[in-house]
Amino acid sequence: MPRVRTLDDLRHWWDRHADDYDRSMTWAERKLFEDTRPWIAGRARGRTLEVAIGTGLNLAHYPSGTDLCGVELSPRMLALARRRAEALGRDADLRLGDAQRLDFEDASFDTVVATFSLCCVPDDARAVAEMARVLRPGGLLLLADHVASTSLWLRALQRTLEIGSVPFAGEHFRRRPLRHVEAAGLRIEEHDRFKKGMIERLAARKSD
Ligand SMILES: C[S@@+](CC[C@H](N)C(=O)[O-])C[C@H]1O[C@@H](n2cnc3c(N)ncnc32)[C@H](O)[C@@H]1O
Repeated sequence: MPRVRTLDDLRHWWDRHADDYDRSMTWAERKLFEDTRPWIAGRARGRTLEVAIGTGLNLAHYPSGTDLCGVELSPRMLALARRRAEALGRDADLRLGDAQRLDFEDASFDTVVATFSLCCVPDDARAVAEMARVLRPGGLLLLADHVASTSLWLRALQRTLEIGSVPFAGEHFRRRPLRHVEAAGLRIEEHDRFKKGMIERLAARKSD
């Protein structure tokens, strides 16, 4: 199995797994994520950026009138997101890009969203810093991800899984994006952690 060492490797990994992505997420969506997608997307207001949008599984949950832009590393995942947006009749500007180097001016969005993506972006701290940069003062950052469990045993299992998942799929199980959000100086307004602490979601405000 080829190792995922560079951003190109990661792009190819996601291109290869794109067609199977929605099906592969079915169990996690039902058993782990609960109402996280509507929880996150339902809080978006105004000009909104979704980072690492994947196949667009949040698209159906944005309030109508959301002015949506999405960035994604994998052309194949992006193609599926575009197809989903079209099927939903949702007008969205969906483009290729790197979460670690967002191609937008400072303070250009009212809301920035990322779900289940910071687990695989190579430098998650840098991606959060980029999200904070493109958020306008007073804007809202909405994040959800699978993170390090609060259970010692599950954390040990997550650590074991990472022995294969990090080198071969670029996938981390023990990250805590919340810490990067706090380091970026945003104020946490809402925070939930459930399923033995493995799922974490938050809404954080950039100061005016
Ligand atoms: C687990 S999927 C999550 C997709 C989607 N956010 C969701 O909630 O279903 C991770 C996605 O992150 C994308 N990704 C990984 N690294 C990225 C980067 N540096 N910039 C943009 N997208 C990235 C992958 O291509 C993949 O589509």
